[in-house]
Amino acid sequence: MKILVAMTGKDPDLWLPLLRGALPDAEIRSWADGDDLPADYALVWKPAPEVLTGRVHLKAIVNMGAGVDAMLDLHCSHPGAIPEGVPIYRLEDAGMAIQMVEYATYATLRHFRSFDEYEFQRRERLWQPLSPRVASDVVVGVMGLGSLGAAVASRLALLGMEVRGYSRSHKSIDGVLSFSGTEQFESFLHGVHVLINLLPNTADTRNVLGKGTFSLLGRGAYIVNLARGVHLVENDLLDAIHTGQVAGAMLDVFREEPLPASHPFWDEHRITITPHISAQTMPGESVRQVAEKIRAIEDARVPTGRVDLCRGY
Ligand code: NAP
Ligand code: GLV
Repeated sequence: MKILVAMTGKDPDLWLPLLRGALPDAEIRSWADGDDLPADYALVWKPAPEVLTGRVHLKAIVNMGAGVDAMLDLHCSHPGAIPEGVPIYRLEDAGMAIQMVEYATYATLRHFRSFDEYEFQRRERLWQPLSPRVASDVVVGVMGLGSLGAAVASRLALLGMEVRGYSRSHKSIDGVLSFSGTEQFESFLHGVHVLINLLPNTADTRNVLGKGTFSLLGRGAYIVNLARGVHLVENDLLDAIHTGQVAGAMLDVFREEPLPASHPFWDEHRITITPHISAQTMPGESVRQVAEKIRAIEDARVPTGRVDLCRGY
């Protein structure tokens, strides 16, 4: 079995030995310019258009991350760059869900326990206890209840807050109120204090974090964007912070990454910025999952995590 690896921005010296260890019978090579040798599988992350073009004999392509938007962009911008009929799989959790749980819990508690306010006070050498809040009075909304969002919502429910989840299809998750479909979106948002985004980047979800959404939240809500920068209308966030409708935000993803030094978010002290690290790809767990998907295909079993290009995730 021949495996082609083309992972932009990921170190082949780290990944190739792990892959060779997990799939000892496979011939595994890194893609190089002009590579037209045969391959059974392609493991890719943000591949250049020429990597997959014409590779109609692949048994599968595996996207070495959770979000498949780069593949969809490629599909649209370079028709034919993704060979038709070849199934695409993606990483499901693979060590990312627990990281999202940690980040989302921190962000939620940061807002709920007024740590931003105490940080501003500290800078002014001010000692000023604020009124306490009760967890059961706080409403958290998690948009997207897939591999990552479901883990986040169910863990946050353990903090004693009201947790709502929003997805396309109805979900049954202990302690989480399920809202599904566009017709339930407004009732999902109504009165939410902490809004966490874990939706995929699709035509339906872009710009979802904009003024219409912010206006339905509880006053002084907190925005946590962990999915993609294109979900957020940046000026709408700044406006909502200036009016007080939104108290602040923790943002891990941005329309332009790295976030340019001149970007106004750097000057807004109510926005906390992290450099796309809320859930990083874990090589060990990812390789184990990919090897299992490949073994399933070789054994004529159907692996989970198939991407639906029409649906967009
Ligand atoms: P997933 O398993 O595909 O889950 C997507 C969820 O979103 C599903 O619950 C789906 O509903 C819901 N959804 C999709 N379109 C919707 C719509 N139009 N309206 C309402 N709900 C919709 O994805 P995942 O693995 O949890 O990952 C989510 C995203 O996180 C990725 O796409 C990626 O962009 C981002 N991410 C970011 C980082 C980071 O470090 N910042 C790391 C990993 C991933 P159904 O369940 O009904 O289909
Ligand atoms: C990272 O952002 C991913 O989609 O895996």
